[in-house]
Amino acid sequence: MEGYRLFLALLGSALLLGFLSVIFALVWVLHYREGLAWDGDAAEFNWHPVLIITGFVFVQGIAIIVYRLPWTWKCSKLLMKLIHAGLNTIALMLAIISLVAVFDFHNAKKIPNMYSLHSWIGLTAVIFYALQLVLGFVVFLLPFAPVSLRAMVMPIHVYSGLLIFGTVIATALMGITEKLIFALKLPAYSSSPEEAIFVNTLGVLILVFGGVILWMATRPHWKRPCEQNSKTQQRNGGTLDENKEGSTMADCSNANKPDVEFANEAAARKRNAKFDEAGQRSTM
Ligand code: HEM
Repeated sequence: MEGYRLFLALLGSALLLGFLSVIFALVWVLHYREGLAWDGDAAEFNWHPVLIITGFVFVQGIAIIVYRLPWTWKCSKLLMKLIHAGLNTIALMLAIISLVAVFDFHNAKKIPNMYSLHSWIGLTAVIFYALQLVLGFVVFLLPFAPVSLRAMVMPIHVYSGLLIFGTVIATALMGITEKLIFALKLPAYSSSPEEAIFVNTLGVLILVFGGVILWMATRPHWKRPCEQNSKTQQRNGGTLDENKEGSTMADCSNANKPDVEFANEAAARKRNAKFDEAGQRSTM
C-alpha cells in the first residue's frame, strides 16, 4: 500500500482523537454539568452531546474509512458492506436517541423547539443520513439493483456521505458553542472559565478528527483495490508488502471505473452461486 506508514499514523490519530472526544464529552457532563439521567431535566439534555459525539461523530467517522483498512481487503466486499452499514445504523440509532433526549427536555421545560440554526441544520443532517442509509441498503446491499444503477448512484453516495459528515461536525461545533453561551453565566463564557477552555478543546478535537477522516477518505491510492486484485493478493499469501501492493494497485486499471468494478462484483456473485450449486450437487 502506497504511503502505508502515513496511513497508519493517520488511523492511530483518528482513533485517539475520536476516543478523546468521547472521554471529553463524558467528563464535561459528569464533572462540569449535571450528570446523566432520563428525568426531563438538564441531566437528560446531557445525553444529547454524549450520544451525538459517540455515535454521529466517532462511529460515523470510522464507518466512512472502514473500506480503507488494508487488513480488510482480503475479506469479501459483502462482509465489508455489512460492517459499513452496521456501523452507520448504530450511529443513526444513537443520533435518534440523542434527539429524543433534547426534544423531551425542551418539552418538559416548555422551551420552544426548532428555533435555532443548530436545530435546523442538525435535524436536516439526521434526516438525510437516514435517507442515505436506506438508499445504500436498497441499492448496494440488496441483490436486486442492476449494476448500471449501482455505478450511477455510487458517486452520489460518496459525495453525500462526506457532505453529511462535514455538516455533522459543523453542527456539533455550533451546538457546543450554544450550550456554553447558555450555561456559563457566573463566570460568563467570555471570561474563559476552566469549563469553557475544556469544552473549546473538545471542539478542536472534533474538528481535527473530522479533518483526518475526510483526508483519509479522499485519498484515491488508499481505496480498496478492485475485487480481482484483492483475490490475487489472497492467493499470494495476503501480505501487504509495500512494493507488491503498490504494483497491484497500479495494475488495477479498472479500479476507478465503478461500472467495471460492479460488473466484476456481479460476475463474482454469479460464480459463487454456481460454486454453491455445484457443491450442493456433489454433496447430494
Ligand atoms: C451533529 C450533531 C447534532 C445534531 C444533529 C443536533 C441536533 C439538534 C436538534 C435537532 C435540536 C433541536 C431540539 C429541539 O428543538 O427541541 C438540538 C438542540 C440543541 N443542541 Fe444539538 N445536535 C447536535 C450536536 C450537539 C452538540 C454536540 C451539542 C453540545 C452540547 C448540542 C447542543 C444543543 C443545544 C444546546 C440545543 C438546544 C438549543 C437549540 O435548539 O439549538 N448539539 N440539536
